[in-house]
Amino acid sequence: MPFEEDARPLLTAEEFRLLKELLLDACGLQLREDLKYVVERRLWPRLEALSLRDYSGYYRYLRFDARAREEVELAIELLVPHETYFFREPTQLGSFERELLPRLCQQNASSRKLRLWSAGCSSGEEPYTLSMLIAETGLFDGWDVQIHGTDISRRMLTAARAAEYGSSALRTTTPAQLARHFDPISAGRFRVKAGLKNRVSFGHLNLLDEAGLKLLPRMDAIFCRNVLIYLEPAARRKVVHSFWEQLVAGGYLLLGHSESLLTFSTDFALVQLTGDLVYRRPAGA
Ligand SMILES: C[S@@+](CC[C@H](N)C(=O)[O-])C[C@H]1O[C@@H](n2cnc3c(N)ncnc32)[C@H](O)[C@@H]1O
Repeated sequence: MPFEEDARPLLTAEEFRLLKELLLDACGLQLREDLKYVVERRLWPRLEALSLRDYSGYYRYLRFDARAREEVELAIELLVPHETYFFREPTQLGSFERELLPRLCQQNASSRKLRLWSAGCSSGEEPYTLSMLIAETGLFDGWDVQIHGTDISRRMLTAARAAEYGSSALRTTTPAQLARHFDPISAGRFRVKAGLKNRVSFGHLNLLDEAGLKLLPRMDAIFCRNVLIYLEPAARRKVVHSFWEQLVAGGYLLLGHSESLLTFSTDFALVQLTGDLVYRRPAGA
């Protein structure tokens, strides 16, 4: 039975501490103290759905119930931001298209293979954008190109696989890009063209899951933008180390504009492009 608004339980400081610890272990998520009310509000519908009277009951459910794993995923889903859109951070994407893709084309000229990874891809806009940029260059026509999108959120991955988007996802997409890369499906809704969609595949992956990461191929470039900022420092360090391992020698790591490896890794070389600073696993490493 749903709670009356005034019967809605409060999240105590101790319950918040326990939930923070649990989520940190599960996915590296760092919940700041000032987010207590946000956590309370976002998780409350789960208490209702499970007929639990308070957050201690919810914490016990997350720890010990037979369906705990699914519920932890749901809680993460509700608390982690999924904001994304096509052609996000255009300066960086311009550098990638004009400077890095030609380098990768040269680097891989003999294998004619390209492997890219969007780590924390949310609803798919980022990996599809990469597919569009690759098409724009024309450099990889006839190559074996694979773009992998992974995320911890199954709901976001379902949306990504559908590849259908509305105005929010397309807020910075120009009419020319829209015409070239999308098919209209209904008023204000567009689907990514089949040729661009086909080389993108999606998989469920927690970036802290080292065994899961090993199932991916070695990558020529990894995009992990607007993900590390939500992770606690030790988790960030672990994820960045996994990226290093997952990159081919000479492969590139691109982060969001507010993120840097400054305090996290000295293993990468810094590469200054005209509009961006990116990281590279040194060619001999
Ligand atoms: C703000 S979105 C960024 C989407 C896209 N990279 C961009 O910049 O537009 C962050 C995404 O990272 C995912 N994420 C957060 N922590 C994760 C983890 N430990 N493992 C995998 N994905 C995670 C979230 O589910 C979310 O969809």
